Amino acid sequence: MKRIMSPGTLLQAGPPSPVIMASCIDSRGKPNIITLGMYMTISSEPPLICIGVSPRRYSHDLIVKSGEFVVNVPSISLEKEMIYCGENSGRHVDKFAETGLTPMNSVEVRTPSIRECYGSLECRVVQSHVCGDHTLFVGEVVSSRLDEDVLTEGGLDILKAKPIIQKNHIYFTVKKRK
Ligand SMILES: Cc1cc2nc3c(=O)[nH]c(=O)nc-3n(C[C@H](O)[C@H](O)[C@H](O)COP(=O)(O)O)c2cc1C
Repeated sequence: MKRIMSPGTLLQAGPPSPVIMASCIDSRGKPNIITLGMYMTISSEPPLICIGVSPRRYSHDLIVKSGEFVVNVPSISLEKEMIYCGENSGRHVDKFAETGLTPMNSVEVRTPSIRECYGSLECRVVQSHVCGDHTLFVGEVVSSRLDEDVLTEGGLDILKAKPIIQKNHIYFTVKKRK
């Protein structure tokens, strides 16, 4: 038997999402962090990713005005910091100071990356679209970095990196099937 989901619960049938922490800056260069589940790769060549950000978020206007952001990928060990950045607004708190996360100069953009995250993708906004109650920002990845201890010859060792996956705010990480 399958249940036809009622309006308001339609998205329950969707898969879990990765969790990322996007950094962004205000007009004075002060950085902020927003936790996002709405993230996907949308093109390999050129390398394009997209994020969904509600216009209600403080980070939304920062990204619109600066035209850039950095996608930082946390390990499950950063769960507490990730939740803090997803439950508090940069309008009221300095999330770098409150979490102890470290802003690190990026290579190609003014927005700092988060040192404690194992991966970072520096993005320039190349398109934005209003999609219902969120704005879809398409970012061209202009530089990216990975911690050397999660790198193998073939690229990322995902079992070492332990990215965060979530559905309904239940957080988990990856496991090899066999
Ligand atoms: C796991 C998780 C995923 C989230 N995903 C999104 C998202 O994809 N888009 C969004 O606009 N807000 C999302 N949020 C909510 C924002 O992170 C939250 O409102 C944050 O406090 C906004 O910060 P800001 O006001 O400093 O921008 C998520 C929160 C959590 C905890």
